[in-house]
Amino acid sequence: MAALPAATLTLPPAAVPGLALSQVDTPSLVLDLDAFEANLQTMQRWADRHGVSLRPHGKAHKCPEVSRRQIALGARGICCQKVSEALPFIQAGIDDIHISNEVVGPAKLALLAQLARAARISVCVDHPDNLAAIAAAMVAAQAEVEVLIEVDVGQGRCGVSDAAMVVALARQIQQSPGVRFGGLQAYHGSVQHVRGHAERAAIAARAAEAAANYARELRNAGVPCHRITGAGTGSAEFDAASGVYTELQAGSYAFMDGDYGANAWSDALAFRNSLFLLTTVMSVPTADRIVVDAGLKSTTVESGLPRVAELAGWVYTGANDEHGVLKAQPDTVAAGPGSSAAPASAGASPVRLGDTLRLIPSHVDPTFNLHDKLIVYRQGVVVDIWDIAARGLSR
Ligand SMILES: Cc1ncc(COP(=O)(O)O)c(C=O)c1O
Repeated sequence: MAALPAATLTLPPAAVPGLALSQVDTPSLVLDLDAFEANLQTMQRWADRHGVSLRPHGKAHKCPEVSRRQIALGARGICCQKVSEALPFIQAGIDDIHISNEVVGPAKLALLAQLARAARISVCVDHPDNLAAIAAAMVAAQAEVEVLIEVDVGQGRCGVSDAAMVVALARQIQQSPGVRFGGLQAYHGSVQHVRGHAERAAIAARAAEAAANYARELRNAGVPCHRITGAGTGSAEFDAASGVYTELQAGSYAFMDGDYGANAWSDALAFRNSLFLLTTVMSVPTADRIVVDAGLKSTTVESGLPRVAELAGWVYTGANDEHGVLKAQPDTVAAGPGSSAAPASAGASPVRLGDTLRLIPSHVDPTFNLHDKLIVYRQGVVVDIWDIAARGLSR
């Protein structure tokens, strides 16, 4: 047999449009388009109803096609968390991006200035030295950027927590070339996954009050503050209705994940799981154990292990690099894709080798960052494949 030259070998795509979802090669990140579209509409309607802008976060998915669809429904623009992350979005035609973060260091600021020449960009600041460096980078590149002061409204991450400092920074922005004052960023990350609805509402209300106080101090000092941006998926319900926030930055709502699934939601604003990790059964060593091909290299576990979407009574109990182990809960009667319902303990596995299962990732953002492609399906059939173009761009 003639040797096949290695240079002629190519990796076939995991899926092509028209393929049944069950035939997609795995592990693959797959998107239920019906659920995704419903989520986008739900959040856009909520923002419209309360007269606030929606600026969904691109860090959740790093996929320009997702952002394009959000903007087509009425989103004002997007957020990115890193300067390098913004580049593929701009190259895909998205021209209004808020970097919801501090950008520090000459290389990053030089890139920020280049981006600001190509698109409408805003960025956060919480220190006068960083502001001076941003202004210098903009002047050097003959660019201009909008600057928002980040205030700490309870998270204890970045952000100014002193009203006099907020006013001083705003004045410095007003007096510096290359920058213009945009308003405040008041994002409270740690409220997002507070499980209880009422408890979450109470913490979000305190954050909104803190943001309103900073804006009042600015107004009293003669600096109008027209933009207060913040909110994630867990607080968007309250922040939109607060009368304080003018812009919502939520990102995960488009997909949901295991961590957000553990929150209590009201009927007013609730979302569906649209993102799944498709995995293949690669071994069935015993009737109460299934081994799948999705482990740590295709899903992250810092927010817990993935949930099994469609095999009732089975739990993903352990992740190795390339393996995931599912175990039947005691007394489980499992109905799997490959067989009729049967007690797991009776010796019949509910799945067969090669069956595919959908897992719900526990944390959307870092899981997206492990994949190059998002395989989009409707009613069990692949309809599109989107590039996760900003995957790995964390500078
Ligand atoms: C500054 C900022 N805004 C918005 C978000 C979006 O939050 P979520 O994806 O939970 O909706 C995040 C997420 O970490 C964030 O850090």
